[in-house]
Amino acid sequence: MKKLFLGLALITLVGSCKKENTEPQNPHVANANCGSCHSTEQSQWASSIDFHALSATDVLTNVDHNTAELLNDDCLKCHSPFQYSLGVTHFVTPVDQIGQPVGTWTVRNTGDWKATKCEVCHDPGATNTAKLAKYGSLLDGQWSAGYTKVSALPAAYQKVISLSSSDTSTYFYPDQTTLAVQATKLCNSCHDPADQGGDPAIIVDGINLGPQGGDSRSYVATYHQGFGCIDCHPSHDFININPKTKPSCSGCHTLTQTGKVHLNHW
Ligand code: HEC
Ligand code: HEC
Ligand code: HEC
Ligand code: HEC
Ligand code: HEC
Ligand code: HEC
Repeated sequence: MKKLFLGLALITLVGSCKKENTEPQNPHVANANCGSCHSTEQSQWASSIDFHALSATDVLTNVDHNTAELLNDDCLKCHSPFQYSLGVTHFVTPVDQIGQPVGTWTVRNTGDWKATKCEVCHDPGATNTAKLAKYGSLLDGQWSAGYTKVSALPAAYQKVISLSSSDTSTYFYPDQTTLAVQATKLCNSCHDPADQGGDPAIIVDGINLGPQGGDSRSYVATYHQGFGCIDCHPSHDFININPKTKPSCSGCHTLTQTGKVHLNHW
């Protein structure tokens, strides 16, 4: 009798839950169509101002890149992380440094390629500001098919070069909790701050700027030490911020400055 009572109570409870469920459910679930609501971010991401939507063809059939480095699964860790388990052979053939015919590679299954999609930087289930988290590996390190919270990502840092002595140093942001620094942790997980590439070093006005290239643009001159990536590159359009109109920059930028910010991509 007691059991039947409990059963009835449960049914009533479930029934009443269903009724109250007319409240909209949280749309932030895996595989939601993020762009259906966030149309501004979606159109910026999909346009040519944000390279994070670069196609499989652009990434996997670049002649210079393919002849310099053998295609391998690691390419997907930064270029289309959610597809890592499919392997690079799912997307391109042949996997060699010659190509077939020589100097050409063919992409396939392009519909499966999702590039650096929203959920690579945003964990739909997270509750921190902007839901920032990293899906997959850190740089080309060990693969894991899940998220690392920004609070658990390695400390964000910059490589800094002095334009008077050529000395380089490593700068760790003293406060790792600001939004700009949390975002920089995320950027650093694919844009390796220490990667200058293998091209020859260049000397400008007697200053050795080191090898020029690599996946990182984060070598900055001492003046720009302490700024996070999103202080200069808005997260979804990446159009360089005008330093004359931003208060944190205009103190120095009242006069026209010449030169570049990333001195490892002169
Ligand atoms: C650690 C992350 C990472 C890995 C692994 C990686 N890339 Fe990249 N790749 C980048 C980043 C970041 C850029 C943007 C570089 C820039 O503009 O400064 C880039 C740029 C590119 C470009 C644009 C053209 C250029 O300038 O080189 C191509 C093509 C490319 N990668 C192909 C590949 C291929 C093929 C592989 C695997 C062999 C690969 N990448 C592995 C992060 C990575
Ligand atoms: C390369 C990483 C990256 C990718 C990919 C990315 N975002 Fe973001 N997003 C960020 C960062 C960093 C912030 C926080 C800083 C800011 O608000 O600009 C952010 C902020 C946001 C916000 C909060 C904006 C606000 O004004 O409060 C929304 C919404 C958002 N992203 C949606 C998207 C959607 C939708 C996509 C895919 C179309 C996407 N993002 C792709 C990095 C990314
Ligand atoms: C049905 C509409 C809808 C869909 C689909 C949707 N969002 Fe949102 N999103 C919202 C609304 C409304 C807010 C603001 C209220 C809130 O924080 O929940 C928001 C807030 C956000 C924020 C800012 C959160 C913060 O606290 O700063 C981010 C980042 C974000 N969404 C990313 C995404 C991503 C990534 C997806 C896809 C997995 C997605 N959204 C899908 C409606 C949507
Ligand atoms: C999942 C790896 C990944 C993360 C995280 C990431 N990037 Fe990228 N980024 C790339 C790759 C790979 C490219 C080269 C284009 C491509 O293949 O999509 C690139 C290209 C770029 C470019 C050059 C092209 C453009 O869009 O104008 C900028 C700028 C950039 N990233 C800035 C950032 C910033 C700022 C952050 C942090 C908010 C960030 N990236 C986070 C992988 C990443
Ligand atoms: C002080 C401002 C500043 C900071 C901080 C900064 N950038 Fe840049 N970035 C620029 C400017 C300006 C350019 C255009 C070329 C130049 O001057 O070097 C640029 C260019 C780039 C490009 C090449 C874009 C293209 O269209 O080819 C990438 C990739 C990039 N930045 C990534 C990053 C990442 C990742 C970080 C953080 C680790 C970062 N930047 C921090 C100002 C900045
Ligand atoms: C402490 C002074 C200082 C601050 C603060 C500063 N800059 Fe600069 N910036 C310089 C100097 C000096 C140069 C010239 C460097 C060179 O010759 O390479 C420069 C060069 C640049 C350039 C390349 C030249 C140009 O104007 O196109 C850009 C872009 C730039 N800075 C962006 C920024 C942004 C964005 C901020 C704020 C987030 C900022 N800077 C903050 C001192 C500063």
